[in-house]
Amino acid sequence: MPKITFIEADGNRVETMAQAGNSLMQTAVNAGIAAIAAECGGVCACGTCHCHIEPDWFGRLVPPAVDEADMLEFVIDPDEHSRLSCQIKITDDLDGLIVYVPESQT
Ligand code: FES
Repeated sequence: MPKITFIEADGNRVETMAQAGNSLMQTAVNAGIAAIAAECGGVCACGTCHCHIEPDWFGRLVPPAVDEADMLEFVIDPDEHSRLSCQIKITDDLDGLIVYVPESQT
């Protein structure tokens, strides 16, 4: 089970063991990360699962598909390491992944 660390806007660190096959969004919700609202349930239609991937990890992820890239244009406070957590599938290779969670997405 890969360990994922979420760092919330106030600096609080939440470490969790993720289930391979789940999405990063599901992992965040299961860990009680309130800022990941995930209003559309993970179908790439709301942008409320937006997160910032730690820069050293960003290039190791499967790049966003066109639908995700389009939706990222509408999220609050995007940067060059923005991703939609619902579009990232957890694999064992992601052990140690660090994710920064924006303050509010609703
Ligand atoms: S949960 Fe809606 S876009 Fe990810």
